[in-house]
Amino acid sequence: MPGTVVVGLQWGDEGKGKVVDVLAENADFVVRFAGGANAGHTLVVEGRRLVFHLLPSGLLRAKTTCLLGAGMVLCPETLVEEMERAQELGIDLAGRLVISARAHVVTEYHKVIDGLREQNEGAIGTTLRGIGPAYEDRASRRGLQIGALGSQKTVEFALRGMYERALREGASRSELVEPDELATRYRDYAERLQPYLGDVSSLVHRGLVEGRQVLFEGAQGTLLDLGFGSYPYVTSSQTLSAAACTGVGVGPGAVSSVVGVLKVYTTRVGLGPFPTEASGAEVERLRRRGAEFGATTGRPRRCGWLDLPALRYAVRVNGVTELFLTKLDVLSGLEQIPVSVGYHVEGRLVQEVPCAPVDLDQVEPMYESLPGWADFPDDPRSFRDLPEAAVEYVRRIERETGVPVRFVSVGPDRRQVVAVSPQ
Ligand code: IMP
Repeated sequence: MPGTVVVGLQWGDEGKGKVVDVLAENADFVVRFAGGANAGHTLVVEGRRLVFHLLPSGLLRAKTTCLLGAGMVLCPETLVEEMERAQELGIDLAGRLVISARAHVVTEYHKVIDGLREQNEGAIGTTLRGIGPAYEDRASRRGLQIGALGSQKTVEFALRGMYERALREGASRSELVEPDELATRYRDYAERLQPYLGDVSSLVHRGLVEGRQVLFEGAQGTLLDLGFGSYPYVTSSQTLSAAACTGVGVGPGAVSSVVGVLKVYTTRVGLGPFPTEASGAEVERLRRRGAEFGATTGRPRRCGWLDLPALRYAVRVNGVTELFLTKLDVLSGLEQIPVSVGYHVEGRLVQEVPCAPVDLDQVEPMYESLPGWADFPDDPRSFRDLPEAAVEYVRRIERETGVPVRFVSVGPDRRQVVAVSPQ
């Protein structure tokens, strides 16, 4: 069955939105399986820059059905606003957007709680979108499923509980919407979302059985995964490829390939360890050339070099079968490119992220300088058009991971992608 998962191999912002948009050309379904409006997909189509937080990137391909899986947490207001914006752009959503009735609601109260916690000791630099508190409510069975929005009694009960919890966390009554008022707003959202609710699990299963192409669109990145990321500096959901199954409701057999998306240098937003973080003018250069500002929060991203131990780890825990590299053009103009080829940990040299997450703060990268390239062609049509050192940089990543690179993105537009021939 041709199900492909697209996952980020770093701390998010690898360019998954563009990758999904490119691969969706041949996809029948694009389905998101985790996260919420903490994600931000930037797409550039014919010079227009579009940012979506909840709607899958496949929406721009007229023949693709887009689905939001049960593993997601959705802010109804943001969702309705994005749907309206898509419709204004001439995207017809009827029959093309299906939202799992099992996905959970992110409320105002979750956002307030997120904000309050970020003012205290233990802040991790979240996106303030209420993601952690919403997943907490889901896990403790106090949450609200999107499919229940039409049931006034359920909505009022859930909102009252969330309101009380926000007060207990230190929110003042004046900053909170009264639960009754929010329930009234939700009645309106329920009506607008009702036509789009459906059984995503069953639709994807049926599609796969009929031989349709399904793309599972990951959010965030491997090192932000709740279980296998740089805990506690992570998001509150599973971001690995395996979560595509639990976040949609299909068995592991539904996945036949895993595309790992890798930016050819590294960035991170928010707090937490970052072994290959650069400093000074180098950061400014990467940030400026790579436009490294968060699509969701506008925060400047921390920037650094390619981290092969982290990449080998990400390839292993996701079962990556092919790589899609992004932003190769951004590295142009550097004489030498530092790359971390291993970590020194307590006097030993290791090849992968160590098991205890806290160690990531204490590792010391061992760098190798790879030859850079001065100029990059404006509009390369094939991999052969790239400078020799850039080709070698790509081949080195293949050798280090044992995974073939299938495509390289060489600019922001969806056309700026070259296919890589096998070695
Ligand atoms: P939360 O997901 O808003 O709770 O944030 C938890 C951590 O994940 C913070 O460090 C965020 O900056 C990071 N994060 C969440 N979503 C994204 C994303 O889409 N790209 C990059 N970082 C993200």
